[in-house]
Amino acid sequence: TRSWRVDLKSLIRTIPDFPKPGIQFRDITTLLIDGRGFAAAVDALVEMARPHGADLIAGIEARGFIFSAPVARALGAGLLPVRKPGKLPGPRIGVDYALEYGTDRLEIHEGACLPGHRVLLVDDLIATGGTALATVSLLRQAGAEVPAALFVIDLPELGGAALLKQAGVEAASLMSFEGH
Ligand code: PRP
Ligand code: MG
Repeated sequence: TRSWRVDLKSLIRTIPDFPKPGIQFRDITTLLIDGRGFAAAVDALVEMARPHGADLIAGIEARGFIFSAPVARALGAGLLPVRKPGKLPGPRIGVDYALEYGTDRLEIHEGACLPGHRVLLVDDLIATGGTALATVSLLRQAGAEVPAALFVIDLPELGGAALLKQAGVEAASLMSFEGH
């Protein structure tokens, strides 16, 4: 509902060969430092999230926090930080997931989301979907419903959004990049 128009995709910078040769890194920091761009991205995510009537917005550490917090605030929903290990002080539940090399883990506090809660996932980017699918399984383990997951950037060739749909989660993004 802002009066200006922003080409969001043009605000993403592509850095070749980071963090390793052959990877095209899609850098959101050039969008974040653009006030209108950041606002337009958050506003668009809010409008995608609104119809789902979420109780909670789950943001995935670290880059997911940047977008999930303003979306939750705009909707008057709670914010559920999904954290990397060793950060949460209270009793917690977690999920281990595979990376290209090794594994990682994500955790939430026990009781942070409850059976029947409608929780929307927000992250900056979906690639293989490993991070998002692990989070969906963690939230479902807690009894939550996860109707949708929202991203700024989709890399469709890596298949994550398709896997989410197969898992029964609607996946939507503000833009996509072919080639990675
Ligand atoms: C990046 C990105 C997503 C995830 C997507 O996070 O922010 O969370 O990878 O990849 P996937 O779909 O293949 O799982 P990263 O773990 O690099 O860390 P950060 O958010 O803390 O920077
Ligand atoms: Mg991340």
